[in-house]
Amino acid sequence: MSYSTDTSKALFDRSSKVLVEGGSSPSRGPANYGGYPLFIERGQGAHVFDADGNQYLDWMMAYGALPHGHAHPRIVDAVSEGAKTSTLVAAATEIEVEVAELIQRMVPSAERVRFANTGTEATMAAIRLARGYTGRQKFIKFEGHYHGWYDDFLVNAHPHPVTSLGHRHDPVKIADSSGLNHRALDDTILVPWNDLSAAERALENNKGQVAAIITEGIMANMGVIPPRQGYLEGLRELARTNNALFILDETVTGFRIAAGGCQQHYQLDPDISTFGKALGSGLPVAAFVGRAEIMEALAWGGVLHYGTQNASRIGLFAARANLQMLAEDNFAAFRHTWKIGEALVAGLQSVFQETKTPAIVQSVGPMLQILFTEQPQIHDYREFCAFVDRGRYQRFARALFPHGIYMTPASGLHSVATLVHTQEHVEATLVAARKVLRDGGSSG
Ligand SMILES: Cc1ncc(COP(=O)(O)O)c(C=O)c1O
Repeated sequence: MSYSTDTSKALFDRSSKVLVEGGSSPSRGPANYGGYPLFIERGQGAHVFDADGNQYLDWMMAYGALPHGHAHPRIVDAVSEGAKTSTLVAAATEIEVEVAELIQRMVPSAERVRFANTGTEATMAAIRLARGYTGRQKFIKFEGHYHGWYDDFLVNAHPHPVTSLGHRHDPVKIADSSGLNHRALDDTILVPWNDLSAAERALENNKGQVAAIITEGIMANMGVIPPRQGYLEGLRELARTNNALFILDETVTGFRIAAGGCQQHYQLDPDISTFGKALGSGLPVAAFVGRAEIMEALAWGGVLHYGTQNASRIGLFAARANLQMLAEDNFAAFRHTWKIGEALVAGLQSVFQETKTPAIVQSVGPMLQILFTEQPQIHDYREFCAFVDRGRYQRFARALFPHGIYMTPASGLHSVATLVHTQEHVEATLVAARKVLRDGGSSG
């Protein structure tokens, strides 16, 4: 049977009359998918099925929110168990304590935990907490890092022509959105990442005024860009010597890179860290966690953080099942996802060599992204903007769809190996990638 997405097209025509770009986020619409997006009807295990009945092997996994794949029976049971005893009570609950304890066991820097719903809420609250605790206004944010859609973070989180970025010593701030509070970015100090001297210079220029340095541990919104050896440790130390807080945004890396996230992998002790995505196994659960002394500044609303939906009951039932499964067999989950991630990376690299494709794969364990570039490696946002052919990646990812492979069509995002991915899935992906590249599916 030939591949058709006519039902998706019809749904897009219908949805465009009620939803902007046919959906609820620009990244799910035509900007990444071309004329119209695939409408996904359901998921099971490692696969998703679109409205036309096409089956795809899913490497996107809801931006990494599904460590156990789609509709895992234990997550489904947990959600149903939660719902049976009320969808929300908005009062103190034991499930909240249990999940916080599980987090504390996996993430030692989590002396206190506060639940939110999304990564954006968690990072927004973390910055307010840092400002409240230190009594300082400014914070350092890095080029190419995305921390959610709060005004103060929305600068240089999208790629731009490298000629518009200014000098590394004084990066030009390019707002990512209209409609921001026009003073929102005044206290945001923009700094190139993976360059300790740049952070040192920024701290020196703003002596005594910086509340926090916020960083992704692994850059995950410009493909995948790992930190240089010793860089994060150096940043942590710079924060300490300048009496600024070190905020590690683990929204992407948490419960994915290791049980204790990026901070375990790189042996960091952040003052505050933020989690989302993989925590709720598909349900909107996020958290910001950190040193007791700092987190206690939230008490009595001193640094205010409210929310009807905070500590979402059903989400926490899912989070408990999720974390319990991740901890089984001495955290075997992480050994599996690293093995699959590394096999996929090695396989794709040899397909690119074989087909003489100018592309590299950057990764850390289960997180990986294909970058079409002539460069041997991409180290930061400026190199990503200058040297990565984003259009070619998009064409490649879309050309995989008819072969039943679903990778994100956004070059700035990434693929993720989960517990439901297998070596056979890796092989199937390599067969499809080889075919697409031989047929010239990514060019033109
Ligand atoms: C590093 C990072 N922080 C924060 C966020 C925001 O999370 P959410 O989309 O749940 O608001 C994202 C989302 O992609 C992210 O990648």
